[in-house]
Amino acid sequence: MEDITKRPIGIFDSGVGGLTVVKEILKELPKEDIVYFGDTARVPYGSKSKEVVYNFSCQIINFLLEKNVKMIIIACNTVSSNCYEELRQKFPNVPIIEVLGQGVNSAISYTKNKKIGVIGTEATIKSGRYEQKIKENLKEAKVYSRACPLFVPIVEEGCLNDNISYWVSKKYIEDFKEFDIDTLILGCTHYPLLKDSISNFVGENINIINPAIPTALTVKKYLIENNIQNLYGGKCEFFVSDKNDKFDFISSMILNKECNAEKINIEKY
Ligand code: DGL
Repeated sequence: MEDITKRPIGIFDSGVGGLTVVKEILKELPKEDIVYFGDTARVPYGSKSKEVVYNFSCQIINFLLEKNVKMIIIACNTVSSNCYEELRQKFPNVPIIEVLGQGVNSAISYTKNKKIGVIGTEATIKSGRYEQKIKENLKEAKVYSRACPLFVPIVEEGCLNDNISYWVSKKYIEDFKEFDIDTLILGCTHYPLLKDSISNFVGENINIINPAIPTALTVKKYLIENNIQNLYGGKCEFFVSDKNDKFDFISSMILNKECNAEKINIEKY
């Protein structure tokens, strides 16, 4: 009989952003095998319609299932906020964990004054999903949301915490101070890579939530509870829909290890 523990975990995003989730997973679960897919040919997702994002996600999940993954992590808030339920219905036989719900739970446990900021892609903010989920769990919460569409291209270009990301953070975040929030959710997996720039403008004593961290804890809990944790692996494979040097360079920087992604034709799935 096949040993399910040895099967890899599938993780995907539009580009390098989901690697912030891989990083946290590797901290918690260093012996898991991982198959990562970054949709570099079609990034950004945040400016696309729900229907397009859903179709891209279906192709990617089909690809990951072909890789025999034991579970899937949606390391993308745009996908989580727009089509998590639909994807669960479409793929009922594989466990799927997403980042949005994890970020909401953390924010709710941190906030004292119940004023929570959320930054994300246009599609994530437009979906209203963060606000809805926060208020489902904390009725009196006040949620201040903002789309920051320039952040993703900045990260994909590798401009991490430099002058450009500093000035763009200033433009997007500076007036958040007026809202008196005590918690800010980084509602896009690319944004933790700009955390130093962003934190310049949110004011002191604000909890900046990176949903990747609770996501990794939830994945670990799930694997242990279901007796499917791998204690003997640790291999990471990276796939992309378009190969450029930047992906390997930025990935190596994020994960602190050599990455050499393989290009695949995602359209055929
Ligand atoms: N990193 C993704 C997210 O969390 C997607 C960003 C994009 O491609 O626009 O939303």
